[in-house]
Amino acid sequence: MKMHDFTIFNDTKLKFGTDYIDAELSEDLAQYGHKVLLTYGSGSIKASGLYARVMDLLKNFEVYELNGIAPNPKIDSVRAGQKLVQEHDIDVILAVGGGSVIDASKVIASAKFYQGDPWDLVLNPSLRQDIKQMPYLDILTLSATGTEMNKGSVISNPETHQKLGTFGPQTPRVSYLDPTLTYSVSKWQTAAGSIDIFSHLTEQYFDRASTDVFDGMIEGVMRTVIANAPLALANPDNYIARGNLMISATMALNSLVGSGNENGWTVHPVEHELSAYYDITHGVGLGILTPRWMEYILDDSSLSKFVQFAKNVWHLNGDDDWKLAHAAIQATYDWVKSLEVPTTLPGVGIEDEINFQAMAKSAVEVGRLANGYKPMQAQDVVALYQASMT
Ligand code: NZQ
Ligand code: ZN
Repeated sequence: MKMHDFTIFNDTKLKFGTDYIDAELSEDLAQYGHKVLLTYGSGSIKASGLYARVMDLLKNFEVYELNGIAPNPKIDSVRAGQKLVQEHDIDVILAVGGGSVIDASKVIASAKFYQGDPWDLVLNPSLRQDIKQMPYLDILTLSATGTEMNKGSVISNPETHQKLGTFGPQTPRVSYLDPTLTYSVSKWQTAAGSIDIFSHLTEQYFDRASTDVFDGMIEGVMRTVIANAPLALANPDNYIARGNLMISATMALNSLVGSGNENGWTVHPVEHELSAYYDITHGVGLGILTPRWMEYILDDSSLSKFVQFAKNVWHLNGDDDWKLAHAAIQATYDWVKSLEVPTTLPGVGIEDEINFQAMAKSAVEVGRLANGYKPMQAQDVVALYQASMT
């Protein structure tokens, strides 16, 4: 087992709780200017009353709006945002929504300083490191991605069937984490978000390098998500459950627990192809793939890690290591299923194998799966998709 060098730096200010938005949003924004681009999705913030509340807090600002940012955010939304921030010389972005709204906003924040098509910034991520990024703040309304405390975005181009990750130089200036804003999240999205958090943790836990410190943190966050997702599903207004999921989401992907890792993520690139081709919900795709991927990576070299996972995360015991490992994978599958989301590809409408080869090829190239915890070639990815058919 290896332990790599690392640095940790993250200057996002998190404001967790119910009162910060009303008390501090206006003052926080004012530090960055007067012209604000308010970005949001397709209406959930209007239905919940959050839009009206935020607009009231922004009454002394010059506000421009970009709405309709869709799940698996599309490059066209970024293009529209780029036009607005450039035309009006906007100072700061306030993203109100889930990962899709925040992800698109981060790229818009870079695109202000780019004269070409923002898809270039996604295709060639190093471009974003050489240009400035506008300050952006967010009000998170869905616990899932961790985008509220990281530099990443994932943007889709439906014309080319591509869904690609891109990183800017900055994390959000401020992220407001109010669990009550997630009470209205549907069961489907609550389940998907919880599985997404869990997957961020498994991707970083099953890594060729690790430390006991971060492994222990990951196990704690995994136990938290496993316990709280069903509570939030059963009682959407459970503040403690929603709060625990929100903190879990943020801590699972703010780069802390992956420190010292090789970062050989696998399930995410394999899932991103499904979303790129079929526009399925990210977390649901991960839930389908993860237990099958675990079976794929289970071998002599990973056995002890699976035993640790079985004991420390699933509270399983026994003398037979292989049985324990398989029981932990079964427990993972059962947990996903208990959240009432599909556990097969046909369950999300993917009925045939027609795109498996093309998706597998792209996943291997884009996701650099040869560097994964257990390297994958295109035929391995096809086999993973096939195993997910039933
Ligand atoms: O569009 P609106 O009307 O806001 O509705 C959204 C959307 O339909 C709805 N929603 C959000 N908050 C709600 C709510 N509905 C009711 N009440 C609320 N409080 O939920 C739907 C899904 O929203 P979305 O933002 O797409 O979900 P999520 O936060 O799961 O984000 C998923 C996207 O993030 C990417 C995924 O690939 C996907 O594109 N990821 C981003 C990462 C990152 N930046 O670090 C890492 C992740 O691994 C992930 O890949
Ligand atoms: Zn994810």
